[in-house]
Amino acid sequence: MSLAIAIMAAGKGTRLKSKRPKVLHEIGGKPLLAHVVATAAKIVPADDIFVIVGHEAERVKAAVSATGVQFVLQAEQRGTGHAIQCARESLKDYDTLLVLSGDAPLIKPETIARIRDFHLEQQAAMTILTAVPANPFGYGRVLRRDAASPEVTAIVEQKALTLEQATAPEINSGIYAFATGPLFSNIDRISTANAHGELYLTDMAALLVATGERVVAIQSEYPTEVLGANTIAEMMELDAALRAATAQKLMTRGVTIFRPETVTIDAEVSVGPDTIIEPFVQLLGQTKIGEDCRIRSYSVIENTVIADRVLVRQGCMITDSTIGSDAMIGPYAHIRPDSEIGESAHVGNFVETKKVKMGKGAKANHLTYLGDAEIGAGTNIGAGTITCNYDGVDKHRTLIGENAFVGSDSTLVAPISIGDRAFIGAGSCITENVPADALAIGRGRQVNKPDWAKNQGPLCKQKK
Ligand code: UD1
Ligand code: CA
Repeated sequence: MSLAIAIMAAGKGTRLKSKRPKVLHEIGGKPLLAHVVATAAKIVPADDIFVIVGHEAERVKAAVSATGVQFVLQAEQRGTGHAIQCARESLKDYDTLLVLSGDAPLIKPETIARIRDFHLEQQAAMTILTAVPANPFGYGRVLRRDAASPEVTAIVEQKALTLEQATAPEINSGIYAFATGPLFSNIDRISTANAHGELYLTDMAALLVATGERVVAIQSEYPTEVLGANTIAEMMELDAALRAATAQKLMTRGVTIFRPETVTIDAEVSVGPDTIIEPFVQLLGQTKIGEDCRIRSYSVIENTVIADRVLVRQGCMITDSTIGSDAMIGPYAHIRPDSEIGESAHVGNFVETKKVKMGKGAKANHLTYLGDAEIGAGTNIGAGTITCNYDGVDKHRTLIGENAFVGSDSTLVAPISIGDRAFIGAGSCITENVPADALAIGRGRQVNKPDWAKNQGPLCKQKK
């Protein structure tokens, strides 16, 4: 038996009122379509997945092309039935076709496997995945021959429901299995005689029944997994459901998440056991956090790899970086892209880093900007230090060796290098390289003028 999966993703998503195609809107930090493709890829190889694109086809393709799936163009979007008509040439040589919707991203691979197995076991021409959600409004309804029977007589779209059918609770998920023979020998018979003047794939149910084919339904065990996103509000409901599931999954793996309803964790984030995540934390993109860490409130961490036993204090922003084990960050640190914070290093409050490599145990605890710099192991960067990395045109690097000491309020004008164990006097403006073990002082010498104030006469009102 050969099996293909088609994913319908050509629609515009008119109800979203958005410039972005619907299937590229994100939940859990990932486009709807990327979720569906990832799930489909757990059932068949990427070669056997056909994504039907149309509206903004190039943009949609670009979002998932790295997965190796195939694409079919539905240049004009004339309905879900038309989408499958357009894919006929690519699909007709497979025995069985599973159809998924690019806007129903929560579908579980187990459920797809279940509908496939049920379809084959029932020897059906069409199998419909159904659900009974709290609110069926807006969905097509699946009408069974009788309540106890798997056999379906028709799918009726919301707008065509009679008063009596309007209370029917069982919805069409938009996910189907088909035997390709009867599908493609009948698909040209669907018509546009409906509220939208579109070619509905749902009409295949009654059509196949009328030709004596077997059409059956199987109900999903999890009503939320089939929910589609037609409006932004629906999309945000799916986002909340997905994020809640992600937080639950992490908690079953030994992660403590306080007030999980307040955290924002993207679908692909991983967190090690015994790590504690405080309220209102955001963990985004491909972030990976090790074991025994603590991420304190209001920190936003994106595409960052954090090793074990790291403390991220309140209010840090960390992006596209790596943090070594036992490091301490924040509060209020801004770790910008390509920062590599070493093992046991400290980056304290109001410190900004960008393209910086900080060695093991290096410290920059207060009010500092470090950009395009390398800071050796054990080096201490005093409060208020600035690397002057930008000359208005180009960026330049600052290299500081190991166990050096940069006094507070130093400005280091790059390109510059400071040797191992060197000292920089506080308040220095350093423009020339400093050799290892040297003390560099680059500031105006202090002058004390004795009794100066006393001699200022009435200008200086001194207390007697
Ligand atoms: C569809 C079903 C409805 C079901 C619901 C489940 C039809 C006629 N109705 O309605 O019974 O309850 O899904 O979510 O199928 N698409 C194309 N080409 C097109 C039109 C749509 O590829 O010409 C794609 C869309 O991008 C989308 C999917 O097909 O990913 C579903 O289309 P949509 O317009 O959202 O259908 P619904 O109105 O939700
Ligand atoms: Ca939909």
